[in-house]
Amino acid sequence: MATWSAPGKIFLFGEHAVVYGKPGIAMAIKPRVMVTVRKAKRQKKPNSSYIAECFRQMGVSGSVYVRSQLPSSSGLGSSAAVTVATLFAINDEFDIGKSPEELSSLAHIVEKNVQKGRASATDTYVSTVGGMVLITGNTKRRLPPQPIQLVIGNSLTHHNTSEMVGKVAELKRTRPQIADPIIDAIAAVTRCSMHHFNNPRELGNLMNMNHALLDALGVGHPQISRLVLAARAAGALGAKVTGAGGGGCMFALCSKSAKTRVAGAIEACDARAIITTIDTQGVRKEKDE
Ligand code: MEV
Repeated sequence: MATWSAPGKIFLFGEHAVVYGKPGIAMAIKPRVMVTVRKAKRQKKPNSSYIAECFRQMGVSGSVYVRSQLPSSSGLGSSAAVTVATLFAINDEFDIGKSPEELSSLAHIVEKNVQKGRASATDTYVSTVGGMVLITGNTKRRLPPQPIQLVIGNSLTHHNTSEMVGKVAELKRTRPQIADPIIDAIAAVTRCSMHHFNNPRELGNLMNMNHALLDALGVGHPQISRLVLAARAAGALGAKVTGAGGGGCMFALCSKSAKTRVAGAIEACDARAIITTIDTQGVRKEKDE
């Protein structure tokens, strides 16, 4: 039996702009997915297509038990965390001997196969390595981790990443004179943020700007706007949508003392709040229970 866990992630800055080669900054967060894999004579069909594809890619069969602290389909990278933890657990349980780099690339392939073509390489990479990561085109670089205090607000509204990426592509096609400067401005905000990670107030202002630019790109959602405004009114230093938008999650940057008040304000808007911070660890082996 082998148990491995992997963290979820948020985009601090630059989502959507990263699709066009601009910089983005993603960060692993504390909520994790735990996956236990056990050799089994007969394979029980897993009820997750991601897990089924992991076994298919690794060429073995076994039984799986999943415990998740991450809400699924909310933009927090839960499918990537399940995929990464499952591949590492299979590799361990069956002594397959693949390297972490091979498993991380395979995780992206699994996501692409299940999602029929489109999958973010960011999610699987951040879930594997943890901490903060700067993504520019196909390059990913770990940044020095920062003790960022966050409250995530899950709007509980369904969102579809491919649809939102398609919406931005359509705006770029039909109105490039408007979409391109917005994407350039998002990139400028992301670059500027790298000089302000030790200045929470300025970082919060930059998050607010990034949120407004994403709204202008058309990936906003009324419930996300409500949560962002409620978090700011409750004392957050900044708040923005995270990930593809059109629903899903937002997060607020908070001082330690404001976290509970901000979480309360988010819950009062019929959403779920998660108080969390950076997870500097990526995928890891857990003790078998
Ligand atoms: C989705 O979490 C983030 C997007 O930028 C897509 C991607 O990076 O693949 C919208």
